[in-house]
This record gives sequence, structure tokens and C-alpha cells, in this order.
Amino acid sequence: MTERHTDLNQLLQHIWDQIHKGAADPAHPYHSPAFGTLGSNGPNVRTIILRRAELEARSLCFHSDRRAQKINEIQKHPRVALHFWNSDSREQLRITGNATVHFDDQIANQLWQHSRPKSLITYVKPTTPGTKVDQPESGIVGNFQSGNVSMSDVEVGRQHFAVVCTQVDEIDFLQLHNEGNCRAYFQWESGRYEGAWLIP
Ligand SMILES: Cc1cc2nc3c(=O)[nH]c(=O)nc-3n(C[C@H](O)[C@H](O)[C@H](O)COP(=O)(O)O)c2cc1C
Repeated sequence: MTERHTDLNQLLQHIWDQIHKGAADPAHPYHSPAFGTLGSNGPNVRTIILRRAELEARSLCFHSDRRAQKINEIQKHPRVALHFWNSDSREQLRITGNATVHFDDQIANQLWQHSRPKSLITYVKPTTPGTKVDQPESGIVGNFQSGNVSMSDVEVGRQHFAVVCTQVDEIDFLQLHNEGNCRAYFQWESGRYEGAWLIP
């Protein structure tokens, strides 16, 4: 059984430690949160891979295709949400903030250059994601079956690559615990996170 949290400052530290681990470790449950946007027909949620977390900038970033529907939605409604669940520690995080999209700037260039070529194959798609096709297909053009993929093999995908970064304004934390569930809320205010305990 994991420790029950009783100190708000330590809890905030713990939350960011876990988010950092999620960004760095593909085996961590926080590596693949759900990301929610507001679409023209209401909310839309999908899984993403957390690629970068920066406490200083309060920023959580993931890769995407600049032609994806979510990019359009963020540009119209930058208010977004992220959901994380760790079934081992039985902790849930619900995060809200404003998202920005990055195509040809330093952030997008950096994340492109620091990615493993294999993880960039998905951007080598001439056809826009979400386009109807006659049969199931990945849309990826090129032979990437062999294990060896270089940056030059995927370079054509750079034009489709985007980075989405969310600036974390609110964190709603819930821990399920045998000694009693515990819930806390943090809001960014006047340059710091103001925390409070809530009834779960
Ligand atoms: C495990 C997993 C990880 C995913 N990671 C990403 C990701 O990092 N970025 C992304 O744009 N889509 C990712 N996807 C695909 C999205 O969930 C979604 O299907 C796709 O981006 C289209 O969403 P949209 O039409 O709302 O833009 C992932 C899907 C799964 C199952």
C-alpha cells in the first residue's frame, strides 16, 4: 500500500516527480495520458504519449500531426485537459490548462531532433489523418519494416510534425486509499500553485 499524502507541498512535489517519470519512462503509467479538447460537437478525448514535462514552464508536451483534428480544435479552443491514472499507486490526476501548438519554431525543432527516428515514422503520411479509405491502411509511404530507420528516412515527415504543449493551470489529484481516499486541488495563482484539500 502506498503512503497516504498528508502535506500539500510534498504532494505537489510528488505529482511533478511522477509526471517527469511519466515523460521519461515508457513503462510508467503516466507515459500515456488522455488528452481532451473541445470540438465542434462537444468534448473529444484521445490517448497521447507524454514527451516532455517542465516544472519551471509548467509545461507538458506531446508530438502530433499538424493536420490532426485536435490541432484545429486547440487553435479554436486552447483550453484543454489531461487525465492520468496510476493503478499501482491508485492515484488520478486531472489537469487543465491552455495549449499551444508548435510547427516550425524552436520547440518543434528540438523535439523533432531529439526523437528516435522510429517514433517519427508516423509523420511520413502524405494523406491527412482521418481521411476515409477503402481498406485498413496506415497511410505511411515507404518501407520501414527493417529495424534500421535513420533521421533522413523520416525527414519528409517533418512538414507534418507538430508539438502540443499545455501550460498547467489546475491540478485535481485523487488518491484511493484504504485509510480513506484523499483529494487535493492546486491552482496557479500569482506565480505559485495554491493548494487545498477537498472532500473526494
Ligand atoms: C498508446 C497511444 C499513444 C498515442 N500517442 C499519440 C500522440 O502522442 N500524439 C498523437 O497525436 N496521437 C497519439 N495517438 C493517437 C490518438 O489517440 C488519436 O487516435 C489520433 O491522434 C487522432 O486524434 P484526433 O483526430 O483527435 O486528432 C496515440 C494513440 C495510442 C493508442
